Amino acid sequence: MQTILVTGGAGFIGSAFVRYMVEKYPHYRIIVLDKLTYAGNMDNLLPVSDEPNYKFYRGDIADHGAVRGVIETEKIDSIVNFAAESHVDRSILSPDAFIQTDVMGVYVLLEEARRAGVTRFHQVSTDEVYGSIPVGFFKEGDPLEPNSPYAASKAGGEMMVRAYHVTYGMNTTVTRGSNTFGEYQYPEKVLPLFITEAIDDRPLPVYGDGMQVRDWLYVDDHASAIDLVLHQGKPGEIYNVGGENEQHNIEVTRMMLRFLEKPESLIRYVKDRPGHDRRYALTCEKIRALGWHPSGDFPALLEKTIRWYQKNEWWWRKIKTGEYLEYYKKQYAERLTEGN
Ligand code: NAD
Ligand code: DAU
Repeated sequence: MQTILVTGGAGFIGSAFVRYMVEKYPHYRIIVLDKLTYAGNMDNLLPVSDEPNYKFYRGDIADHGAVRGVIETEKIDSIVNFAAESHVDRSILSPDAFIQTDVMGVYVLLEEARRAGVTRFHQVSTDEVYGSIPVGFFKEGDPLEPNSPYAASKAGGEMMVRAYHVTYGMNTTVTRGSNTFGEYQYPEKVLPLFITEAIDDRPLPVYGDGMQVRDWLYVDDHASAIDLVLHQGKPGEIYNVGGENEQHNIEVTRMMLRFLEKPESLIRYVKDRPGHDRRYALTCEKIRALGWHPSGDFPALLEKTIRWYQKNEWWWRKIKTGEYLEYYKKQYAERLTEGN
């Protein structure tokens, strides 16, 4: 019997992890703590809402009282932290919330965990902490050279996790995941943005020359990797989690348009993201040695994801209103009129 606190469990990857864990471990208790920012969505947790081994709390990971309350009430054994501000473009427009959640929030979680004697802490991090790599693959021991406020705040959070392991002997692990895609992803990230815009025959804003490379990882593979590291990872260790599936942005965009049977004339090359990392690539030998591997077949998984967005307009249409439209205007209105 284990009681696991999943922070940020109402977001894209966090909710996939919750759905996966609730089903796989009926004898565990899965407790979610989520602030429900613009990206948090209770609809993501509907499939588990009636499960007896799942419970939800609304609260901020940077709030000592909220975190302490849940840890004490639910007698938490382990924490898996997904909670973060997660979008690079938003971090360029306004970095404050990123420092508050991705650095301060991680510190508050660690400190409350230490105080309560929580024995296990897993931090969900990102390949973006390494920065960009023109050729070759990043290994876990490579230096961190984050380039966006988002990546820098995630690196800062990781440094706190390291300090709590080294200084206080906390049993911590970190995973650095690559670009994740799949169902229930908030439509600000490139794939769900482009899929939902293309469904409506709207222009797709490709930054710069579209030749940036991302390593695409299916969301359920990301969830299973974290499950494995949570159970079998070594204290203090970091594990890369990559899809081992590098693609140029423009190629992914074209593939997506083919599945949707929409024309390439929807593509617009627009002004680049400042500080845009050209390529991410990871070596995943360390997590492979624990027995994990990505499921592969990117085209099939991309098609599955696209079909989900086609069938679940109820999920994304209501997101693309209000604050979303204000953000969209700030990020894209000028870009789409000016081009690159
Ligand atoms: P997301 O933006 O979809 O979800 C983030 C969740 O955290 C939301 O439910 C939000 O309400 C919650 N949250 C934000 N601030 C909070 C706070 N202060 N207290 C409590 N809850 C808060 O993000 P995602 O794409 O699911 O990413 C999850 C984690 O995985 C993040 O830590 C991110 O850095 C990391 N990651 C993401 C990717 C990716 O491609 N999406 C890849 C690698 C790593
Ligand atoms: O690599 C892991 C990271 O992947 C995670 O840590 C982040 O949380 C996640 O958001 C993602 O970051 P990216 O910046 O790579 O993802 P995004 O979907 O924003 O962009 C993917 C690529 O597509 C990137 O090269 C920028 C480009 N892009 C993005 C948007 C939103 C465009 O060309 N046009 C767009 O409108």
